[in-house]
Amino acid sequence: MKIDSQKLVAAAARARKGSVSPYSRFKVGAALLTKSGEIIGGANVESASYGLTCCAERVALFKALTDGKKDFAAIAVVARCDGGPMPCGACRQLLAEYAPDAAVFVADSRAPGRIREFTVRKLLPAAFAGGSQNFNCETALKI
Ligand code: THU
Repeated sequence: MKIDSQKLVAAAARARKGSVSPYSRFKVGAALLTKSGEIIGGANVESASYGLTCCAERVALFKALTDGKKDFAAIAVVARCDGGPMPCGACRQLLAEYAPDAAVFVADSRAPGRIREFTVRKLLPAAFAGGSQNFNCETALKI
């Protein structure tokens, strides 16, 4: 399928307006594109207990997954920083599990036409894949 990265970045920039980031004041927006052409947006949500904060990418992914969406073609992430925000390690793991084929577009909100493109596979090579590595409680207890 032909992916309109500019349109997806624009959706991420719109989603960014929903950011709840009173502690860092770093607003991040994300937009996921399903293989059937739907777009689901999300933004980061922070907690006074900082570690509970959830990134924009995961908010978008959890919204999409719990709304029954799967099979993702791309995700765009936008924030006000040079080159755009690179997804953190936790988000890369979730994307590797639920959106392994996705293209990843990142852009600075001040220059949304300048889009850098990656893939989930490139951002997290050799990802942990649970079942495919025969992980279960029994093997965990033996370690
Ligand atoms: N953040 C995201 O939402 N996505 C990223 O790719 C990087 C970091 C958020 C988490 C936190 O609310 C704020 O940015 C500062 O780290």
